[in-house]
Amino acid sequence: MLEKINSLLTEISETKIKGPDELELFRLKYLSKKGLISDLFEEFRNVPSADKKEMGQKLNLLKQTANDKYNLLKSEIRVSDSGSKAEDLTRPSCPYNLGSRHPISIIRNEIISIFERIGFTVSEGPEIENDDHVFTKLNFAPEHPARDMQDTFYISRISGGDSNPGDILLRTHTSSVQVRVMQSQKPPIRTISPGRVFRNEAISARAHCIFHQVEGLYIDENVSFADLRQTLLYFAREMYGKDVKIRLRPSYFPFTEPSAEMDVSCTICGGKGCNVCKYTGWLEVLGCGMVHPAVLEACGIDSKKYTGFAFGMGIERPAMLKYQVNDLRLYFENDIRFLEQFKTAF
Ligand code: PHE
Repeated sequence: MLEKINSLLTEISETKIKGPDELELFRLKYLSKKGLISDLFEEFRNVPSADKKEMGQKLNLLKQTANDKYNLLKSEIRVSDSGSKAEDLTRPSCPYNLGSRHPISIIRNEIISIFERIGFTVSEGPEIENDDHVFTKLNFAPEHPARDMQDTFYISRISGGDSNPGDILLRTHTSSVQVRVMQSQKPPIRTISPGRVFRNEAISARAHCIFHQVEGLYIDENVSFADLRQTLLYFAREMYGKDVKIRLRPSYFPFTEPSAEMDVSCTICGGKGCNVCKYTGWLEVLGCGMVHPAVLEACGIDSKKYTGFAFGMGIERPAMLKYQVNDLRLYFENDIRFLEQFKTAF
């Protein structure tokens, strides 16, 4: 038996293999239940007890050697395996982790492209503004509640308590951009202004202190309310589908007269009534109106010669409807699990 063990030891240590098939043959020959080493353990039962100790040690050494050799051969195969794959030029490369657009950007781009198709250009203005552009030139009375600290984030106020055109603040709406455009351009003016706005509101699923708006402004000779309505109908059909209905409800803004709010037939239930439209069949989409002559004059435009319309809408709400997002805060948290869901959209 000793001889057998010794000859197996040399045999094993000299074994060379060419691939996984031969590795398996090695395992079957030496290490499997019906392999040579198992046979020797069978034989070991008949070894006289005087020799058992020495023989047992030898046998264990043999088993250990076979195991070690097996592991060594296996790791050699793995190395040569990955070596050959590295040279496989047909193998696809690692996938790039592509980014995606933020849902607010997607909707903003969609709105911009709808208006660009009818000749509107994009203009932008600063987020940190003064009272003059956000309120005074837009015909807000000095005591108008929107100037109140409740709604506006002031950065610096000139005189305590009273509002002053020089007060510095975070803009509360993108209408400030229409003032800047009117001051710097001559009619005809046809522009839209997307941007971030800020209001001092408690953050919840339905309200946030930061949100996005798109403002529209059209000024030329003979611009009428009918032009406004037709432009908004075109927008609603492009944005929500050709079967959408619109309705204009009288409203009030200091900078437009007359003013209106536009509703579209509910995009979820088609107007039949559901919990999204609170069973009214309509969704509020934007504010609009004819630019107040006092605003035109304040911005240096002759209100006898020119008329114009303006409109402004939030972006978060249509994005919530389109993507069925039920919590506004998700837009601002930059949670990758949320953002990744917009992979396919551009
Ligand atoms: N600025 C208004 C708002 O923030 C929207 C608006 C814009 C209304 C232009 C009329 C004309 O609610």
